[in-house]
Amino acid sequence: TVVSVKQALSGKLEAGSKVTVRGWVRTRRDSKAGLSFVNVNDGSCFDPIQAVVPATLPNYESEVKHLTAGAGVIVSGTLAPSQGKGQAFELQAEQVQVTGFVDDPETYPIQPKQHSMEFLREVAHLRPRTNLFGAVTRVRHTMMTAIHRHLTEQGFFWINTPIITTSDAEGAGDMFRLSTLDLANLPRTPDGRIDFRKDFFGREAFLTVSGQLNVEAYCLAMSKVYTFGPTFRAENSNTPRHLAEFWMVEPEIAFADLGADADCAEAFLKAIFRAVLEERPDDMAFFADRVLPEAVTRLEAFIAQPFERIDYGEAIEILKKSGQKFEYPVAWGVDLQTEHERYLAEKHVGRPVVVMNYPEAIKAFYMRLNDDGRTVAAMDVLAPGIGEIIGGSQREERLDHLDARMAKFGLDARTYGWYRDLRRYGTVPHAGFGLGFERLLVYVCGLSNIRDAIPYPRAAGSADF
Ligand code: 4AD
Ligand code: MG
Repeated sequence: TVVSVKQALSGKLEAGSKVTVRGWVRTRRDSKAGLSFVNVNDGSCFDPIQAVVPATLPNYESEVKHLTAGAGVIVSGTLAPSQGKGQAFELQAEQVQVTGFVDDPETYPIQPKQHSMEFLREVAHLRPRTNLFGAVTRVRHTMMTAIHRHLTEQGFFWINTPIITTSDAEGAGDMFRLSTLDLANLPRTPDGRIDFRKDFFGREAFLTVSGQLNVEAYCLAMSKVYTFGPTFRAENSNTPRHLAEFWMVEPEIAFADLGADADCAEAFLKAIFRAVLEERPDDMAFFADRVLPEAVTRLEAFIAQPFERIDYGEAIEILKKSGQKFEYPVAWGVDLQTEHERYLAEKHVGRPVVVMNYPEAIKAFYMRLNDDGRTVAAMDVLAPGIGEIIGGSQREERLDHLDARMAKFGLDARTYGWYRDLRRYGTVPHAGFGLGFERLLVYVCGLSNIRDAIPYPRAAGSADF
């Protein structure tokens, strides 16, 4: 029977079982005793299985002895207790079928040694064959499924909000325009502007920066909802924490205030961390061993303690008293920069921390104005090593306040007519947040660049593969 490497190594199959494993060669070592040891990995788990290949196989000299890292193989044989250290089982090969040799082993990019992350980004199509990217890929999957599972258990419905949109959900203007117009021959209005009425949708359209506005409408009917999909930002920031295309999960809860929103975020993060620790112990052990020593212990510490919550005003005081020399000076009213966020998460608290109630002038139009008239019910969750991983808020559910904020941000009330309707027809307090999925993955795996947290990174000036 065909089994995955994971099944073969699991201990659930008896020694003596006849199995076939399929995968890619990691290493080959030939012994003087006329045997070859071929390590095969198929991505199903961290470890490869060792196939012990006897010289008596008919294709031993012609093929097996030419196997190099990366070759595709199908190995059939008998599962046996391992002679060497490491795995409990090995595969005593009775047949080795080579599906594909590596053309030019000397120039094959993934050699059995440590490569730099920069180099691996240039071979994004082959990097999943490394230990590191195999582990990142499995942890990514576990986090994705843990998110759906946790929210489903909590009674949320997954709403598939559109990727093509006409509104700027964040009001920040960093959207990718979508157009079928002929760039060399743009239709013009009488006053010389581009006539988007002639475009595909009859108006300007963009790739979404967030599904929040659309999901709010479903929240105000289904009570607990979330959207989870790719989002796009044309921020021209070439940093280790920005992507032009990233995945965001955005839960939205009716009859909730900012405190309930933070409770939801806390339970959510803990559920994700718990799933990673339970389901991916060997991958996490690898990160702790090779990438960041505290990769596992810091997740355990976060789960064991209540979420640390501080007010924006308090955060400013802490930063002022820190004695740190920041590049961007700190004063009440400034937006927190990555250096400030990292100080709060790393030096002040030592684990993810939520900062609440930001000045209204630096936050999005849809956030609810607090009674003090100068802050909004916003929250950001900041994590060590990366800074902001979650941005959320209680939404402005009062039409007059919403209109005032939209006017202040210069947003066209007609484009947002349907959004205003939600405040006209049975408005209720509601709140939600958005988790930048790749930023959380960076934190969980202890990575240092967000481009290593998504299979094919897209950022300003780079969209290869
Ligand atoms: O803080 P943001 O802009 O919030 C929103 O989009 C809200 N609509 C969310 C909501 O309340 N439903 O983005 C949310 C998160 C950030 O905290 C960050 O983790 C991530 O999305 N993010 C990015 N991740 C990677 N690359 C980028 N360019 C990102 N921009 C935001
Ligand atoms: Mg934000």
